[in-house]
Amino acid sequence: MKHTDICELFNSSAKYVGTTVAVCGWVRTWRDSKSIAFIELNDGTCLKNLQLVFDKQKMSEASFKDALVTGAALKAEGELIASERNGCEMNVTFVEVLGSCPQDYPLQKKHHTLEFLRTIPHLRPRTKYFEAVFAVRSRISFAIHKYFQEHGYKYVHTPIITGSDCEGAGEMFRATTMPWKTDCKTEEEYFASDFFGRRANLTVSGQLEGEMAATGLGKIYTFGPTFRAEHSNTTRHAAEFWQIEPEVCFADIHDIIEIAEEFIKFIISDVLENCKDELAYFDERAEKGLIEKLKSVVSSDFAKISYTEAVEVLKKSGREFKYPVEWGADLQTEHERYLTEEYYKKPVFVVDYPASIKAFYMKQNPDGKTVAATDLLVPGIGEIIGCSEREADPEKLKNAMLARKMPLEAYEQYLDLRKYGTVPHSGFGLGLERIIMYVTGVQNIRDTLLFPRTVGSL
Ligand code: 4AD
Ligand code: MG
Repeated sequence: MKHTDICELFNSSAKYVGTTVAVCGWVRTWRDSKSIAFIELNDGTCLKNLQLVFDKQKMSEASFKDALVTGAALKAEGELIASERNGCEMNVTFVEVLGSCPQDYPLQKKHHTLEFLRTIPHLRPRTKYFEAVFAVRSRISFAIHKYFQEHGYKYVHTPIITGSDCEGAGEMFRATTMPWKTDCKTEEEYFASDFFGRRANLTVSGQLEGEMAATGLGKIYTFGPTFRAEHSNTTRHAAEFWQIEPEVCFADIHDIIEIAEEFIKFIISDVLENCKDELAYFDERAEKGLIEKLKSVVSSDFAKISYTEAVEVLKKSGREFKYPVEWGADLQTEHERYLTEEYYKKPVFVVDYPASIKAFYMKQNPDGKTVAATDLLVPGIGEIIGCSEREADPEKLKNAMLARKMPLEAYEQYLDLRKYGTVPHSGFGLGLERIIMYVTGVQNIRDTLLFPRTVGSL
């Protein structure tokens, strides 16, 4: 008999109750008593387990003994019956062990620490916690595509191997086929004999290529992996993370801020609607009050403050920060968290940062000191979006690049965008793992990725 997904049985139980069905899955837990035995079976299609009931009066113990093993993979057949506790359960008539599971299976207990689970990433998806994380990750990814596709954006695929450094922070992984020993005398000689005949990196952002696509397609978004060799060993940084980068022509900084707010609210509303079981679980396991928080984010306006005002707020806070607050210095996580968690207690856009601490491509404000850039900060995490209007004036852009000692010849095509029919345009980058953390209450970015890559850990 062909098996049915467990989610289908729960979602359409009226259709299946009273009929004979087959299910496949892994044994999460089991109990045995004198006359009856139970197995909690999970197949990954929904958070809920299906309870399998073995009646010893009707089935010989020998026929299901091997199934009463945590971690074993089974196929079971029987009648689906209504149950008050669960919605439905199965009176098993036949069970087959697809894969047995020896005693050294590490997931014997109901709850394991997240630290322990990080040591067995290949088995984490078999726990309720990670089943919920990856269900939400999948749904958020779908909601992101849904938002952009419904709003006239084209999905573009920007290269992963690149010759440029978008953020100019120099935190790039090198892509090379060079042997670990070479006779090269200079760096130039070394890269000349490499695969591309020049230095190549893994991209830190698809923005520059995204701008090229947008200044033709009008509105685009990228959604793919990006790589940063940052040595920040924090709970919010990964060396390989997924970024969503829309780029919108004929939009200024105010327009893109509006889009970013609408977009974040769209994602959260979608998850509230479509991941009810997962959010209820995280509300209990990861962050008390999570669902209320998400509902209030959707129904209220995000705050907005200029960088200059934010510096004043921080100075007047009476707080002893580890890093001093001075106009011109980048906001540290402790500053960001004060602003969003204590001062506003909600998401906040900090706008008009000093040009000197931001990337070359941002539009220079008339004050000559700041740029039309904003970071969206949220409680519990800090920055989740980096956003800006792009400098559309070729001369101003060149000067910003020269001031940063960037080789103009490497950015010729990028500069061409300003030469041929330049337009005001804006965009942002959302870190997928950061929005997952915000929506689930998961505290460590390592617990949002299937196989997290962080400094010193592959
Ligand atoms: O602020 P960032 O560096 O902006 C850019 O890369 C721009 N090119 C985006 C654009 O305008 N198209 O990064 C954007 C977001 C951050 O706000 C953060 O959410 C995430 O990417 N991010 C990281 N997430 C996980 N681990 C890291 N190491 C991250 N670095 C950035
Ligand atoms: Mg940033």
